[in-house]
Amino acid sequence: LAAVVSAVAVPVTLKIRTGSSPAQRNGVQIARIAEDAGIAALAVHGRTRACAFKGEVEYDTIANIVRAVDIPVFANGDIDSPERARAVRDHTGAAGVMIGRAAQGRPWLLGQVADYLERGEYRAAPGAREQRTILAQHVAHLHAFYGDFMGTRIARKHFGWYLGDSRLARLHRSKFNRLETPVDQLRYIETLTTTKSPNTTSTPQIEDLAA
Ligand SMILES: Cc1cc2nc3c(=O)[nH]c(=O)nc-3n(C[C@H](O)[C@H](O)[C@H](O)COP(=O)(O)O)c2cc1C
Repeated sequence: LAAVVSAVAVPVTLKIRTGSSPAQRNGVQIARIAEDAGIAALAVHGRTRACAFKGEVEYDTIANIVRAVDIPVFANGDIDSPERARAVRDHTGAAGVMIGRAAQGRPWLLGQVADYLERGEYRAAPGAREQRTILAQHVAHLHAFYGDFMGTRIARKHFGWYLGDSRLARLHRSKFNRLETPVDQLRYIETLTTTKSPNTTSTPQIEDLAA
């Protein structure tokens, strides 16, 4: 860590778990080593490596790490709503939170969390029509950033995350996954209709095939 910190002019941040296994939970010790090496900020996924993605996140261990060092610590693991983000921040005393899976297909979640942590309120998730616009922009940016070949392939997983896991979404996914060009993918997204799903009271999803 010290070698990396001294080799570059920019701040170096680090992400760790709470240890290699429940029997070897050395996150506090590693955090202190990181701070001594000049690491500028630390993100902690509150599980051990052996726990992979299973079991409860150890927010208590993250709180211990926050108390043990003076550098900013970001709490990570299973944060999927603004309310949960605030509860985790309050419980751990972390400087902020890091969000992974819950933002897949829901990039507006990050703005909602930021607003809630800052002001105690947040805007509702975008409606289905706006979600479709965001999806189209996101996919177009993937094409531009990664190029046509990789961009179309990377867009497939994002398309799946936006649409979710309903039977209809799976049908869309299997069709979308066979499209090979940016223009075909963007045209397909335009054909998605945006009716509210009959069996959910939550935010309308991008849902139906065009008539
Ligand atoms: C598809 C995927 C890829 C990931 N890649 C990395 C990675 O390259 N480096 C890393 O430190 N963590 C990686 N993670 C772990 C996440 O950064 C995060 O610690 C973990 O998903 C727990 O946070 P979450 O519950 O908000 O998803 C990855 C997670 C997923 C689902």
